[in-house]
Amino acid sequence: MFKPLSVRSDDREREAHYNTVQARIAALIEDELDEIAILATVACELHHAFGYYDWTGFYRLIDPQELVIGPYQGGHGCLRIHLSRGVCGAAARTRTTQLVPDVSAFPGHIACSSTTRSEIVVPILIGRRVWGVLDVDSDTPAAFTEVDQEHLERLCAMLGNLLAD
Ligand code: SME
Repeated sequence: MFKPLSVRSDDREREAHYNTVQARIAALIEDELDEIAILATVACELHHAFGYYDWTGFYRLIDPQELVIGPYQGGHGCLRIHLSRGVCGAAARTRTTQLVPDVSAFPGHIACSSTTRSEIVVPILIGRRVWGVLDVDSDTPAAFTEVDQEHLERLCAMLGNLLAD
């Protein structure tokens, strides 16, 4: 296992690290068809590859108005999140990534852990349908950059294609 990337790393180092992690994930899930096996592996690989990922996991839209927790790594998370609530709800509702440098400034943020300072939530779409979201929380303020966003969006697009099959 390689060394977790530090939050102090610059964009060039982040780029290189995401490319390595993405290749590792692709190799690990190649030929796997089971949804839970794929999602659990992605959550695990991401969580351990980045020193500033303190909660990493999925919420699935299994009810039209409610997200339900899926495979994750980190401390326990809220089991269900109504679409009208939190950063996860906003990402699912708007179908757009929510990059939140300061969670205390986000109206309606759900504080499952009092240590969370920043987060990024990326929707996973199957066509126009929202399958769910990838949620990453950090104990470091403003931990995520546009490089994190770009690579996590690419990963979620890949997952959307896999989950559609
Ligand atoms: N920060 C999220 C919820 C986090 S967890 O339960 C892990 C939100 O406000 O959507």
